[in-house]
Amino acid sequence: MQNEKGIKQIDWENLGFSYIKTDYRFLSHYKNGQWDEGSLTTDNTLHISEGSTALHYGQQCFEGMKAYRAKDGSINLFRPYENARRMRQSCERLLMPSYSEEAFVEAVKKVVKANEEWVPPYGSGSSLYIRPFVIGVGDNIGVKPAEEYIFSIFVLPVGAYFKGGLKPSNFLVSSYDRAAPRGTGASKVGGNYAASLLPGKEAKERHYSDAVYLDPATQTKIEEVGAANFFGITHDDEFITPKSPSILNSITKRSLMWVAENRLGLTVKEGDVYIDELDRFKEAGACGTAAVIAPIGGLQVGNDFHVFYSEEEVGPVTMKLYNELVGIQFGDVKAPEGWIVKVD
Ligand SMILES: Cc1ncc(COP(=O)(O)O)c(C=O)c1O
Repeated sequence: MQNEKGIKQIDWENLGFSYIKTDYRFLSHYKNGQWDEGSLTTDNTLHISEGSTALHYGQQCFEGMKAYRAKDGSINLFRPYENARRMRQSCERLLMPSYSEEAFVEAVKKVVKANEEWVPPYGSGSSLYIRPFVIGVGDNIGVKPAEEYIFSIFVLPVGAYFKGGLKPSNFLVSSYDRAAPRGTGASKVGGNYAASLLPGKEAKERHYSDAVYLDPATQTKIEEVGAANFFGITHDDEFITPKSPSILNSITKRSLMWVAENRLGLTVKEGDVYIDELDRFKEAGACGTAAVIAPIGGLQVGNDFHVFYSEEEVGPVTMKLYNELVGIQFGDVKAPEGWIVKVD
């Protein structure tokens, strides 16, 4: 059912993050050294060879991004060329043929437009999650790159991560490593996430939101917070975020760095965040597409529990960063040149 504005009638305020089958997905095949043009399809299943490299050797990668309904009813993509570039880099790391960045963004626009009715209304706090992925397919058995690939994009409406406003939560520093020092941590490949399932489960069983990963070489520096990057605000109003070849280069983090410097007047630095120097921060958070910011109340490090701003309240700098970036994504706040790409 649709309302008069061409938006489905769903309880948009109470959506979570669960699979919903929307109407169309984009599908393109790579064969004989080239990608076909790709097209939209209504079938949400894939029929692939049992020998597909994606199934056995993890030759696959993905992206995660969102479309936002603006006040005037139009649809905003947020920095989609950054996702296109990161997917190309992930493909290159796993010897998969990359999809042109321009064609990636056009395909995203096409699939969002086709599922326009599923883009949640402005003001609901919900958005349309977009999941592009590339998988190695075809008849194969040896450990080698596939000769055939599928690039697909599906979309589904998702709720705001925090209903009723941002809330801090606690995290557990994991004794597991998420990625190897010169491995695939900087690529958005499934193996990294398979490896994070057990540490994530153990953290949640102990009532923490997720696991925090330290640098795999020395286990002395913070790298990732679950599937998000870390940032901290020092007592001197510096925005600090880790720099490492084994973390995923978050687009949200880079956007927050810009906002912190240009809209909030903070000093921004990428550098080491030693786990035994948490006192330098008055506020801390995890950042990524899903939540934009998940404020970190406290961090369990061995037997020590370190509280940043508060376990109950969100710090003022975190709040300002969040409001500014969410405002940009929904079109309420002026965006830097090129950050918002309209779907029309
Ligand atoms: C491991 C990991 N780190 C960081 C991020 C945040 O990246 P982005 O801001 O581009 O969503 C993600 C994805 O959300 C992730 O999976």
